[in-house]
Amino acid sequence: MDITAGVGELTTQVVPPSRPVPTLADDVRELLLGSPRSLPPKYLYDEAGSDLFDQICRTKEYYVTRTEDALLTNVVGSVAATVRPATVFEFGSGMSRKTPQIIDACSRVGPLATYAAFDISPDALHAGGRALQARHPEIDVQLFVGDYTAGLDALPVPEGPRLFLFLGGTIGNFPETEGIRFLRDLAARMEPGDFLLMGADRIKDHQVLHDAYNDSEGLTAAFNQNVLRVLNARLGADFEPEAFRHDAIYSEQRSQIEMRLVATQPQTVTIGRLDEQVRFAPGESILTEVSRKFSRESLEHLVRSAGFRLHRHYTPDNQYFSLVLAGFEGSAAR
Ligand code: SAH
Ligand code: TRP
Repeated sequence: MDITAGVGELTTQVVPPSRPVPTLADDVRELLLGSPRSLPPKYLYDEAGSDLFDQICRTKEYYVTRTEDALLTNVVGSVAATVRPATVFEFGSGMSRKTPQIIDACSRVGPLATYAAFDISPDALHAGGRALQARHPEIDVQLFVGDYTAGLDALPVPEGPRLFLFLGGTIGNFPETEGIRFLRDLAARMEPGDFLLMGADRIKDHQVLHDAYNDSEGLTAAFNQNVLRVLNARLGADFEPEAFRHDAIYSEQRSQIEMRLVATQPQTVTIGRLDEQVRFAPGESILTEVSRKFSRESLEHLVRSAGFRLHRHYTPDNQYFSLVLAGFEGSAAR
């Protein structure tokens, strides 16, 4: 592991993959040039994408962030009293905007020594880490840049007891089997006494779901189109983002939002660094991200399938969102 940068008193470490992961070029060849066309969602979160996501969280339609934040306010006391963590370790932390109230609550009940955060977007990670360090100078803030789909073996695990956070409904951005794999990877880093607090979005009125992913300011559309700019910058491609329309629909059958970019006209795109050309017919689309929505039962089933013991399941009165607190009872062998 290399220490790549010091940000104030923070250090950022790059976490190498612990199993082979496809490069962007591999993913584009296999998924974008394949059929049906898709891209892994992690490429949405470059600096501009993370910034757009942060703005989406403040739109009136995107209830997810404010619902989870309000639920956290009600439950952090109970969570902190149960776990009394020495370490809070957050995955997919982004700008860690909901984290301060969790850190505050944990600090009130005991000696919280470390906040660690792991995210693929260094810019978002630094912004969140700096804010937390300023609020809690007494806490050791450790930032890790890496891909959580690449395994977690190379990730250091500071002293326990530990509270692992996976918020924002991000678990829904994994297909089912990959979600279980990620949670199992996480469970393998845990010992008895450690807990996972995970947020997941719930099935609800379809119009509410639809509007949340089709905000009137067009920020989600810009977030979606931005992935084409990432391909232009990193692979020397010549996508015209405006020639693709944002499409986010709720599939009742699969209980998920499916976000796509749809070609509005026939076009041929050159991907310079791959020496490839892709032809799009009008209406042809690229699946860029899914966001699975859970019932109480499907969420509890997921958590248990990954080997966790469900400790508490918190929801607001309208059942719009869930926070599950799950323990790990497996062997302490690492
Ligand atoms: N937890 C925040 C952000 C959620 S958005 C919230 O609740 O608002 C999802 C976050 O996961 C982004 O910060 C993104 O950069 C990160 N992410 C997406 N794919 C990732 C991957 N493969 N590895 C690590 N982080 C990833
Ligand atoms: N974790 C967020 C969610 O599932 C990610 C997200 C924001 C997203 N906007 C999106 C996923 C649009 C798919 C489509 O809500």
